[in-house]
Amino acid sequence: METITTDIAIVGAGGAGLRAAIAVAEADPSLSIALISKVYPMRSHTVAAEGGAAGVIKSDDKIEYHFHDTVAGGDWLTDQDAVEVFVNTIPKELTRLEHWGCPWSREASGKVAVRPFGGMKVMRTWFAADKTGFHILHTLFQTSIKYPSIKRFDEYYSTDLMVENGRCTGVTAIEMRTGIMKLFNAKAVIICSGGGGKVFPFSTNGSIKTGDGMAMAYRAGVPLKDMEFVQYHPTGLPITGILLTEGCRGEGAYLVNKDGYRYLQDYDLGKPEPTPRLKSMELGPRDRLSQCFWQEQRKGRTIKTPHGDMVHLDLRHLGEKKLNERLPMVLDLCRSYIGVDPVTQLVPIRPVVHYMMGGIHTDINAATPIKGLYAAGECACVSINGANRLGSNSLGELLVFGAIAGRNAVEYIKGEGRDLNAAGTTKLAADAKARVDAIFTKTSGTESVSGLRKEMNTTLEDGAGIYRTEAELKVACDKIDGIRARYSQVSVKDKSSVFNTDLIYTLELGSMLDVAQTIAHGALQRKESRGSHQRLDYPKRDDVNFLKHTMTHYTGGATPRIDYLDVKITTSQPAERIYGRDE
Ligand code: FUM
Repeated sequence: METITTDIAIVGAGGAGLRAAIAVAEADPSLSIALISKVYPMRSHTVAAEGGAAGVIKSDDKIEYHFHDTVAGGDWLTDQDAVEVFVNTIPKELTRLEHWGCPWSREASGKVAVRPFGGMKVMRTWFAADKTGFHILHTLFQTSIKYPSIKRFDEYYSTDLMVENGRCTGVTAIEMRTGIMKLFNAKAVIICSGGGGKVFPFSTNGSIKTGDGMAMAYRAGVPLKDMEFVQYHPTGLPITGILLTEGCRGEGAYLVNKDGYRYLQDYDLGKPEPTPRLKSMELGPRDRLSQCFWQEQRKGRTIKTPHGDMVHLDLRHLGEKKLNERLPMVLDLCRSYIGVDPVTQLVPIRPVVHYMMGGIHTDINAATPIKGLYAAGECACVSINGANRLGSNSLGELLVFGAIAGRNAVEYIKGEGRDLNAAGTTKLAADAKARVDAIFTKTSGTESVSGLRKEMNTTLEDGAGIYRTEAELKVACDKIDGIRARYSQVSVKDKSSVFNTDLIYTLELGSMLDVAQTIAHGALQRKESRGSHQRLDYPKRDDVNFLKHTMTHYTGGATPRIDYLDVKITTSQPAERIYGRDE
């Protein structure tokens, strides 16, 4: 097998991967970096982020406030040492992006503007209109290309980590243009491959978000942490699931039910009040707002449509001038995809799977338990998001922990990981190739990729959606276990080698089924309600038994093994989460 020898391999070239690569290049320009990505960097899902990135900058704000909002927003399942690092570092990262050319929106004075965001009790979300992800990704990409040590391998699908004696020595990846698998023999690997929201049927996630990096680390022996915590964003466009940014509500939009009533006032989220409407109503956290939709649905107060139940997002009172300035893409999306003009019309929306709080278990250094293996961004769980991420904390997370991963990988390869271990890696790579070849060359199969994928999607939506019960979760676990077993009966029909999407979709389905299993089994075992994990049969948070991280381990067998890890608490003891009234 062709071997590419490099100091550091990075899997994924979205925000986290590019930031990690830049950090490595800055730390030591003599180190070689292989930046491996399933798509061209500017097609990574970071590009789809809209509303902004939170970081303390204004005089009415404090680092402690950002810390508290994040910890409370995560329903105290966050690791507070990681949150401390995050809130202290992110203002510097956002300023650095400014210096690299990120066109942050401005106040009339010329200072960087901030907007309110859900669950953030002070305005601290930096934004670039409603295309923040695009501008951040572009800024990182254009910065990365000035470093000759970063060598890109675009349109390579990574398949397996090389792990020998507890140490990671590389990764195999298929060059999709030729279908040829290659070995990247590296002293350290950083996974920055994004989340896996495509395990659900209705998602804001681009089609590339199939959890491949998570599954790759999981199969290699790293536990996936807190996977049962799946975020529904309250405002997804019907049919496509395209995100309508929380920036809409940050700028003052309302959520109204079929009677035109601002229903959030019925759910302990405060009452309508004059702007700024921080802390309340539409600026409550995402988990609560999505749960309110579900409650409205049960009360028969949502709008029935052929595409499911909806409520309305009302932006009309904001006026065309402000909408054009602050939310131009929202206008475009609504007009182009559903033929609705938010300037004059109500926009139908419903909750949509947006983000995974869980992911590859890392410590505060972005290090996994496998030596030389790091992870950052949505694929990782460090964990600053706990049971519910606050909107505008994920762009910051990928910057802060992408950079930390890069710098720590450099430290590692200058010390303990100094020598490149190639001896056993060739054999491991041959095993990885044999695994993929077995899937590729199989000639008959009774199952189809699309069929199994659809079953997986509906099973998770039905059993592990916004509200969950023991009975429904048991059904979901059994079904997902069964679908995963049937995966061995899938065969790849297209035997050609150039851009073989049939093969890639099949491999992606394998990743998604591993991820789906961890979500369903983690949710079944967590017998409490916390953040985005709401159990109708266990409606209360249970800090005695469940103030701990779920660690899901790959067994090679039919089901995962689960154990738990203590949450790290530094200064904030668990308390009631309060929005819309005084704490
Ligand atoms: O609504 C949004 O713009 C999403 C932001 C986020 O997920 O952080």
